[in-house]
Amino acid sequence: MSAQILPSVGSFGVRIAGTGSAVPSQVLSNADLARMVETDDDWIFQRTGIRERRISNPDTEGTYTLSRDALGRAIEAAKIDPNTIDLVICGTCTMEMSCPSTACRISAAVGAKSAAAFDLVAACCGYVYTLNVADALIRSGSYKTIAIVGCDAMSSIIDYTDRGTSILFGDAAGAAILTRDTDRTKGCLYQHMGADGSDWGSLYIPRRQRDIPPQDAENRNQLGKLRMEGREVFKFAVNKFREVIEDAMAKTSLGVNDIGQVICHQSNVRIIDAARERIGFDREQVYVNIDRFGNSSAGSVGLCFDQLWKAGKVPCEKPVVFVAFGGGLTWASSVWQL
Ligand code: UT7
Repeated sequence: MSAQILPSVGSFGVRIAGTGSAVPSQVLSNADLARMVETDDDWIFQRTGIRERRISNPDTEGTYTLSRDALGRAIEAAKIDPNTIDLVICGTCTMEMSCPSTACRISAAVGAKSAAAFDLVAACCGYVYTLNVADALIRSGSYKTIAIVGCDAMSSIIDYTDRGTSILFGDAAGAAILTRDTDRTKGCLYQHMGADGSDWGSLYIPRRQRDIPPQDAENRNQLGKLRMEGREVFKFAVNKFREVIEDAMAKTSLGVNDIGQVICHQSNVRIIDAARERIGFDREQVYVNIDRFGNSSAGSVGLCFDQLWKAGKVPCEKPVVFVAFGGGLTWASSVWQL
């Protein structure tokens, strides 16, 4: 079936001028984890598809440094003067400080002196939410050039005595420079963002004792560390992932063969494979790097996009679908003609 692309909304198109990413150099392998908690490489790989993940040196690295480096690389790739950036949005739930925002600090670090800046909290959806917000702001004519970053240093909020969470998560940042284009067919063709706060207790980071809901009172993870009801989130994710992609395909009248690439949150390879098989995508249409980087929350989609972009594997002739879901609970899709 031939694709019927929705007409672009607004007066302008949006072009991705460049991408960047950053991961810490320290590798935490499944074998390393097996020395820390009761687990093994086979269990982790069979249940998640992960072999290793990157974790920050807590003395020198974290959300600020990873976001800054990813943004700096995206600016370099886009070959723009950082002073021309109007706005920096950083999607993260692991900011070192809530004030100032990570976005303010990284704007200053890369020399984006004219930019407004704010952080956006949507857990694993951080990158796709920022992508959607930035596209809408550029299309409306209010902003010309927006830098987006999705980043989480999950190692800063993981309890490494908890085998239910420590095996899954890693640290990463992905960034992109979005800019106004006179071609209105370029940019986001369809976007959707959703949330259901009624089930927030299945994935959260409590600050105080009173943040902990009664049903999680037995959980021994410290305050400030991630708590996750893995099976509950898994059930939600398996269904939501497929639903969100099918909704995006239906709204844009795109069939499986019309889509060039699905760039999705690297939650768990079983979740990705289940959706891919149900919808009928080929393996090459759905990029997977979870084996090497684990689940890096808001960092994952931007990291995948940058790796594909640098490898020349992002198709310009066919639309690309970005998709994510995560804590909140939240979910999001974004269909792009690049
Ligand atoms: O990023 C977005 C949000 N997060 C997600 O999308 C994560 C969604 N959830 C998951 O990916 C999976 O639930 C996990 C990977 C976290 C866990 O996998 P699972 O297949 O759901 O395992 P389970 O919690 O159902 O546990 C199965 C068994 C249990 O043993 P029994 O009760 O069957 O004897 C666990 O105690 O596996 C045991 N187990 C482990 N064994 C070895 C749990 N964690 C481990 C472990 N190593 N790390």
